[in-house]
Amino acid sequence: MADLQTIRDTLSAHYDLAPSPQLAEDMADIYAKMDRVVTPPDWVMYAPYVKAINDLKAKRNAVILGHNYMTPEIFHGVSDFVGDSLQIAMKAQDVDADVIVQAGVHFMAETTKILCPEKTVLMPDMEAGCSLAESITADGIDEMRAKYPGAPVVTYVNTTADVKAASDICCTSSNAVQIVDAMESDTVIMTPDQYLAQNVANQSKKNVVYWPGSCIVHEQYTAQDLRDFREWNPGTRLIAHPECPPDVVAEADFSGSTSGIIKYVTDEKPEKAMLITECSMASNIADELPEVDFVGPCNMCPYMKKISLEKILYVLHTMEGQVEVDPAVADKARASVQKMIDLSKQLGL
Ligand code: 13P
Ligand code: SF4
Repeated sequence: MADLQTIRDTLSAHYDLAPSPQLAEDMADIYAKMDRVVTPPDWVMYAPYVKAINDLKAKRNAVILGHNYMTPEIFHGVSDFVGDSLQIAMKAQDVDADVIVQAGVHFMAETTKILCPEKTVLMPDMEAGCSLAESITADGIDEMRAKYPGAPVVTYVNTTADVKAASDICCTSSNAVQIVDAMESDTVIMTPDQYLAQNVANQSKKNVVYWPGSCIVHEQYTAQDLRDFREWNPGTRLIAHPECPPDVVAEADFSGSTSGIIKYVTDEKPEKAMLITECSMASNIADELPEVDFVGPCNMCPYMKKISLEKILYVLHTMEGQVEVDPAVADKARASVQKMIDLSKQLGL
């Protein structure tokens, strides 16, 4: 992957990316989606990038799939489709485009490539990883199978293609309970997120055994933090992602995937809400929900935050950052992901 100086030199040779009050004004409709969280001077700086990316997308017949954790200028400014991991994977299969830029982390781009081998999938930064994906290899799946013979392996999509290929079926945080419940065996192996597995176990009749991985963003919250937040901010609705430890989820008013969280806040419109998840989530929905006061905290995912407008423009310009998956591995991984998608559709999720 090119270093930042190379990226900047290349872009400045081809585009006028100087801050532009005129472009900022011309694209006031886009800015209106984020003006509660992005300052006017920042928008003046972002506008030339947003314009260049959106023009280039049309030229390359490209779309950008943006995860809910992208920063607002990426989420609202250049993404064609946004959503949680499941929604993005399902969208990838439907889009009519030659090129897909994954504004998210590497496992998401790999999943897109697995589902759309004929499309060019671009990753703006190959180092945008995930602590969960790094916590397990395919050998770990073999280890779990040896420990619990005959138990099916339900693997979170936050994993590499090799790990998906070694599993029976995938899940995301929006369908994990239903996927585990749909398994025939009484014991189900879940990898690699110990907390998601424990949260699923609390809602399922299955005996869920799990791998000890965790998300570096969500593991930081404690139940005491939530009790303190409540005391300091009476009347605040606490909403936690299921990658948080189970005592944190138990302390929250609601738990769900990133899209589940958005739906809950949109439906409920609490006066004050605290999203116990990645920082950008609240920023991305703040403008649509002016009646909701989003109160901290702010834990950032360092991997998601590696994605920027300039890196997106760079990969679209150079077509560098192409994601490849060994076809034999991709075939097996696709079976696990496709089973999840088919079952989710069957269950109306
Ligand atoms: P969602 O599937 O809920 O979007 O979660 C993905 C993720 O990486 C959360 O940390
Ligand atoms: Fe991975 Fe956690 Fe970042 Fe999501 S928030 S990409 S699970 S490290």
